[in-house]
Amino acid sequence: MAKPKVILTRRWSEAAEARLLELFDVSLNESDKPFSPGHLQDALRNYDAVLPTVTDAITAEVLSAEPLRAKILGNFGVGFNHIDLQVAKARGITVTNTPDVLTDCTADIAMALMLAVARRIGEGERIVRSGRWKGWRPNQMLGVKITGKTLGLIGFGRIGLAVAKKAHCGFDMPVIFYTPHPPSPAICEKLGATPCDSIEAVLREADFVSLHCPGSKANRHLINAERLALMKPSAFLINTARGDVVDNEALIQALKNQAIAGAGLDVFEGEPNINPGFLELENAVLVPHLGSATVETRNAMGMRVIDNLIAFFNGEVPRDKVI
Ligand code: DGY
Repeated sequence: MAKPKVILTRRWSEAAEARLLELFDVSLNESDKPFSPGHLQDALRNYDAVLPTVTDAITAEVLSAEPLRAKILGNFGVGFNHIDLQVAKARGITVTNTPDVLTDCTADIAMALMLAVARRIGEGERIVRSGRWKGWRPNQMLGVKITGKTLGLIGFGRIGLAVAKKAHCGFDMPVIFYTPHPPSPAICEKLGATPCDSIEAVLREADFVSLHCPGSKANRHLINAERLALMKPSAFLINTARGDVVDNEALIQALKNQAIAGAGLDVFEGEPNINPGFLELENAVLVPHLGSATVETRNAMGMRVIDNLIAFFNGEVPRDKVI
């Protein structure tokens, strides 16, 4: 029997690409350039499986491709807000993602951003590299301590729980959180985590607010000007979720006016086109969507997509079926 035809929209790790090539009739994206909407439609017309990433907007328009051959979108990533799930479902396409394998690395980036913004690591780097450093002194570039400060989490799924563990066990941080689906009291106790009954309650109390809710239409601008105004002037906002969960213009104003102390951002509205307002701010640490970007994790993500494809083409339900 002919092997299923599979197309990748970006380059993957060498090992994951090699495993795919053993199992399927594969088209690699040698140039690693993002696909245009027309190219994505061609992929849906000509391949049994399309393996997109967060940079591919799989819109209703893209999914209207005819005649449709693709039966599965094996997304390389845990978030799937770039895929119109309702239309994919209506067209009979299965969608899978890659949870679990990126939990720790994404939580690590949240911790790294907390430390970087509180301890002014970005500013310090810029001073050293520009030759402006005049030597040590007691009042040079004082940041704030993160140990013992209150961490507020918006969203408390896999990644939120991992951040709570690292912050509580590693940095003695009391954790408060808001989620519509809280875990058991036993888990909360282990993580030193206390549920709050609203996002507002978390924002008012936390010294660090870290976002771990999914990107979606419902969560667009969840953190807006009104909610930013509830945060303490000494508090920091960390976003490793999706850029549009925060109203970026409102955040720039809050950072400019020092209505909050700083922000650590891994994701941006409209990325990679970042609002230029961020670039002038010393109290923002900006990194290019690096949450899952480790050798180990990116390899594991590829392998997880492959496991989902194997199950699907064997007629089984893939472990990470989203729809
Ligand atoms: C994810 O897995 O959702 C990362 O943000 C990259 O897509």
